[in-house]
Formats: sequence, C-alpha cells, structure tokens
Amino acid sequence: MKKLTQEDFQERRDHLAAEMGLRSIAIISTRAEMLRNRDADYKYRSDSSFFYLTGFAEPEAVAVIETFDSEEDGYSYSLFCRERDREMEIWNGYRAGVDGAVDDYEADEAYAIDLLDEEILTKLQNKDKLFYRIGQNAEFDARVTKWLATAGGESRRGHAIPGQVIQLDRIVDEMRLQKSADEIELMQIASNISAQAHTRAMQTVKPGMMEYALEAELNYVFGKNGCVPSYNSIVGGGENGCILHYVENDKELKDGDLVLIDAACEYQLYASDITRTFPVNGKFSPEQKALYNVVLDAQIAAIDAVRISNSYKEPHNVAVRILVQGLLDLGIMQGDLEEIIQKEAYRQFYMHGTGHWLGMDVHDVGSYKLDGEWRAYEAGMVVTVEPGLYIAPDDETVDAKWRGIGIRIEDDVVAMPNGPHVLTAAVVKSVEDIEALMAKAKVA
Ligand code: GLY
Ligand code: MN
Ligand code: MN
Repeated sequence: MKKLTQEDFQERRDHLAAEMGLRSIAIISTRAEMLRNRDADYKYRSDSSFFYLTGFAEPEAVAVIETFDSEEDGYSYSLFCRERDREMEIWNGYRAGVDGAVDDYEADEAYAIDLLDEEILTKLQNKDKLFYRIGQNAEFDARVTKWLATAGGESRRGHAIPGQVIQLDRIVDEMRLQKSADEIELMQIASNISAQAHTRAMQTVKPGMMEYALEAELNYVFGKNGCVPSYNSIVGGGENGCILHYVENDKELKDGDLVLIDAACEYQLYASDITRTFPVNGKFSPEQKALYNVVLDAQIAAIDAVRISNSYKEPHNVAVRILVQGLLDLGIMQGDLEEIIQKEAYRQFYMHGTGHWLGMDVHDVGSYKLDGEWRAYEAGMVVTVEPGLYIAPDDETVDAKWRGIGIRIEDDVVAMPNGPHVLTAAVVKSVEDIEALMAKAKVA
C-alpha cells in the first residue's frame, strides 16, 4: 500500500522552515471534531495542511515550528497532542501520545495538548514573525490573540514577541499546489478506485433503480478499497442532472433519462473528482447523444489546453467556444458566436467554471491569479476539466426535446512536461464505449 513516509513530511517542514526565515514561529492546528447529532461525531478527517506537514491524523493536535537567531540553529518541530490514556483508548481508540509523537512522528519535542497555553508563551518569545492561518477557526483565532496579548505583557521583561502575523497559507498553499511524484501517485490510486466505481455504476444501473441505490454501488467500491468519498456524491437522474449540487439522490431513475454521477473518493487524504453522464437504459437518445458529443468535444479540447505555460483560463476559453458553437449548430442558441461569448449569454446553459485545483482538498488550495493575472500551469499542478450543458426543464426558449437534459464530463489532469496527463482515463466516456460497456454483462 502506497503511503507517504515520515521523511516526506519532514521535507515539507524543512521547506516551510526555510521559507519562514529566522526568528519565526508557525502554529498549525488540526481540525476540530464535529458533532453529527447529540454525542455522535462525524467520522474524523484531519485538516489537510496540518496532515500535509505532520502525517499525524489524530484530532486535538497542534504543530509548532520555530526558527532561531541563526541558520546554524536549524529549526525545531514540536507536536502538542493527546496523552495516552488507557480508559479513553478502550472507548475511543489508539493514541500515539507524546512518546509516539517523538518516536513515530519525528517531533523534536512533544507535549500534552493541555500544556499548549502555557508552553506557547515561551515559544513566542524572541520571535519576529508569527505564521498562522487566520480566519479558519474563530475559537483558535481567539486563543492565538490571547497568547499574543499575554506574551506582549511579558515582553516588558525584555523578550521580543512577534511584531508581524503572516498568513501561513501563503507558503503552505503554494507548496501544496505543486504536487510531487509521490502525491501524484496517491491521486492516481484515488482516481483508479473512483474510475472503478463509475464503471460499476454503468454496469449496474437500470430503469426503476433509486438514485441512492446507485450511490451505494459507488460507496461499495470506495469502502472495499479503504476509501471514503472526497465530497458528497451527486447521482442525478434526468432533470436532476441540471441541479449543480444535487445530493438528495432520492428519486427513481427512469427509462429514457440520463444519469449524471459526480462522485469520487480520497486515498490517504488525496482526492479524485470524476463526473460521468450516461443513459439509464444503456442507449443514448439522438438528442442526448448530440448534446453529449458537444460536451465531450469541449472536454477533450480543454484537457489538451492543460499545458505548461498556458494560462489557467485557457481550458475554460477553449471549452466555452466549442460549447457555444455546438449550441448554435443544434439550434439551441441563435446569434453570433463571438457576441454570445463576449456577453456570456451561454451562461443560460453553462453557468460554472471549467475546473479547479485538485489535491488533498477537492477544491484545493493555491491561488488562481498572480499579481492580478491568471497564472500559468506549471509541472505537477492538478486541475479538473469539467465542462457541461444543462437545459433547464422549464426553459421555454428551447425546443421541448432538449429540456431537462443535464450533462457534465469531468476528469482530473496533471500538467506534465510532456503534456497533459489524465489521471481518470480508466473510466470510459465516448458514446460508443459507454454503450458497449453497458451492453456487456452486468454486475450482479
Ligand atoms: N465535485 C465537486 C466539483 O466537481 O467541483
Ligand atoms: Mn470538480
Ligand atoms: Mn466533481
């Protein structure tokens, strides 16, 4: 099983410490546990940036990275975590404890999380800069503010405290945006499992099935492979495919309709994000096929635009042009191609962007613009390419035969020196391949 090693996490901390500069401190908290009802929690999932830097998946943990007066002093990594506790571990599971934090997670120093308020005051002394992710957790923000105020009071005794508070994300988000070969390998595994899930859905669907039952087929594949969905699955039959964030998944799948599935899993906290749209009965109608092929042509051309040095926006621009031309050719739109694009009149049928960064978070971190301009793709950046067309069921501006058709096709693409690499190619997407797959023996 592919897994990142402690050396990988250490390299990331080395990188962060180097970017922070001397006399600096970074405080990185993981995500709080969340109640689902009364005393039952949602299954815990670490904060992505915290895990990225530590590999530590327990809740109630804070990492502190400190640099000192000279480069020769290197940096220090402290991990504050839950102490081992026989009683709690019997009820709630294993904890690494402070010894585990040092022995297994390479912390230079480890402390019980209860000591954070006390120990952090010492660590803030003689530092010029504090790196912290402001605005993520109001409760933790208040604690940090209090530490600064308290440490400031003590500074009268001659210890400097940080005069600058800097968004930690500025450094960590950029690091996360550039994926290493190991990270891409993890995303490839997540993509392969997600592709299997889509394939199974195509092989299992039939008229009369409930959307949630088809969702269960996806979850079966995710779960069997030790994965969880990376976001709430969308399984929308017919006109539900026109609802961009449809997650009820509680309607019946009907003969003659398409079903749009936007679902994927995360593996070792690295996400995949796939959409496929296919006929419930295995055969596209002429209208469904015509519209589908417009989206597919747009998607294939947009993928080809994920090239190093191209602007982030290039795939979107390429996709929009093909979608609009297709809508004109099919008589769904009338008018001048350039004018429709310039006035964004196509938003009646295509109202979302063509992609987003993908990584540990499904809508991953990393800025889209630099100095006000769309940035260019660099090697190791991963983006989704997901054009679609959605003809609202009540849109009387178009012929009735098109209404209620919603189509999106989404793949995950890495910008590589030799061109775009599609992580999610294992699930079919041409009309011919989908129909052939669906015509073959079904999963029992
Ligand atoms: N599944 C979320 C998205 O496609 O953006
Ligand atoms: Mn997406
Ligand atoms: Mn998606």
